[in-house]
Amino acid sequence: MRADLSGQVIFVTGGAGGIGRATSHLLAANGASVVVADINEDGARAVAGELPGAIAVRMDVRNPEDAERAVQAAVAKFGKIDVLVNNAGVNTFKDRVEIDRFPKEEWHRIVGIDLDGLYVVSQAALQPMVAQGHGRIINIASVVGVTALRLQCAFAAAKAGIIHLTRAMALELGSKGILVNSLAPGSVLTEGTRQLFYGEDGSFRAQMAGFMNHIPLGRPAYVEEIAEGILFLSAPQNSYMTGHLLMVDGGWTAGYMF
Ligand SMILES: NC(=O)c1ccc[n+]([C@@H]2O[C@H](COP(=O)([O-])OP(=O)(O)OC[C@H]3O[C@@H](n4cnc5c(N)ncnc54)[C@H](O)[C@@H]3O)[C@@H](O)[C@H]2O)c1
Repeated sequence: MRADLSGQVIFVTGGAGGIGRATSHLLAANGASVVVADINEDGARAVAGELPGAIAVRMDVRNPEDAERAVQAAVAKFGKIDVLVNNAGVNTFKDRVEIDRFPKEEWHRIVGIDLDGLYVVSQAALQPMVAQGHGRIINIASVVGVTALRLQCAFAAAKAGIIHLTRAMALELGSKGILVNSLAPGSVLTEGTRQLFYGEDGSFRAQMAGFMNHIPLGRPAYVEEIAEGILFLSAPQNSYMTGHLLMVDGGWTAGYMF
């Protein structure tokens, strides 16, 4: 879709990754000035370098000082933040195990980045948003926060937490002119998920072909398709939606495919 984002400043966490990079590109193509924030500083710089008027900031979403410094850098450069896209996130890809053996360090890593980090960055970005009297926060959740997947207990808990935190934020921030929504991607082809879909020899894993049969559209999403949902939630056309969960999942959560 097309939206007029000229004059809008949009802060994208995890902006160096698959969905974050595609989102930064689409928002910039629609006129936004993008702040590409990531723990991967070189990756953030590379993405910002591809976009007119974008800047890169290094931040670990778990660290409140990093978050405040990154927000201040954005405000120093552009004078405000109109939209925060809380997109940074991690999951367990190797050695997935049941909860009775799920490593505590892995639990704390995933919940610490995906849920706690979202709270930390939102709190920092809310300082300028509340002062300016408007803003938007878009929280990237997952289908796994709606319908759980085996062997992903920490990710499922963190993403479900994001969806409900979004509602709590929407209740508190509506009167301050701030809309808060979440978006749940289904399976998305990125560098991170490529190893789930393809074996080392490059062939599509038979197990994943079965999994795709449970998705009405029969395939994973492209990152650009997730970015389109984020563009809609950022756009001026979306003026009355808050506390909402937008599913961009190829129909995954619509029901069971038999
Ligand atoms: N790819 C999928 O299938 C899928 C499905 C559902 C939800 N999601 C969600 O979408 C979001 C983006 O995922 P993606 O597939 O683009 O992943 P990705 O791995 O390609 O990108 C994630 C980015 O987050 C950054 N990051 C990680 N830890 C960080 C930290 N502590 N501080 C700051 N940045 C950090 C990484 O450096 C990376 O650039 C995540 O929240 C993910 O959970 C992805």
